[in-house]
Amino acid sequence: MEQIIKVSRDNHELAMEIAGDLVHTLNQIHSEGRKAALALSGGNTPKQFFSVLGNLYRDFEGWQNTLFFWSDERCVPPDSPESNYRMVQEVFFDKAAVPRGNIHRIMGENEPWMEAERYSSEILENVPLRLGVPRFDIIYLGLGEDGHTASIFPGNLDLFDSSRICEVAVHPATGQKRITLTGTVINNAARVIFAVSGRNKAEIVAEILENPSSGNYPASLVKPLSGRLTWHLDLEAASLLTQFA
Ligand code: 6PG
Repeated sequence: MEQIIKVSRDNHELAMEIAGDLVHTLNQIHSEGRKAALALSGGNTPKQFFSVLGNLYRDFEGWQNTLFFWSDERCVPPDSPESNYRMVQEVFFDKAAVPRGNIHRIMGENEPWMEAERYSSEILENVPLRLGVPRFDIIYLGLGEDGHTASIFPGNLDLFDSSRICEVAVHPATGQKRITLTGTVINNAARVIFAVSGRNKAEIVAEILENPSSGNYPASLVKPLSGRLTWHLDLEAASLLTQFA
């Protein structure tokens, strides 16, 4: 596994950097004559990234051959303010030339276990396999202050190690059910990109990147087997890394 750390001044520069990287990668994939399969992260950090795609890259022709999935979703309706899908729809899909058939949202309104099964089938139908496991071109992830990623929380590492494609998770504080990709799929991706912003993430970033043996964090277990792991940080999130001190 190749690991890269990139630091941007702030969340806006981070968003511009990730968006430019995505378009460059998509152009490469499309030049090979195939579609690209992405899994988008949830939470607030990526909103600027999606906004840049909806504004600066609204007319990018590559959206025609790009399939959009999610790394995880809250079990809420698509019009809920908590929906990861709704956030992307508002700032990106509603503005850019993305074919509706390319958008594969997790149906948070469905019964969780049924949806985990249904979404796993939808992924299998659309994403190429490597060693029998779906291989996304890029999986985007966020990082919680407790070291969770996607919707895999500390204490639920069994969900990370699950051989299934999707699992049902429960948020430890709110009890909210979520559908999440498992580590089996995450670590099979060609590229995994963490986007982390803010001083409140500095401790967990330093812990994970400079104390890798602290493997009890789900995010510490993200190690794409035959892929590249990129940490896109802003200065605040990187502020406790000794290598950038
Ligand atoms: C979610 C995400 C979750 C998120 C992190 C970071 O649905 O909330 O799956 O893993 O990426 O909690 O969230 P922020 O970007 O809001 O800090």
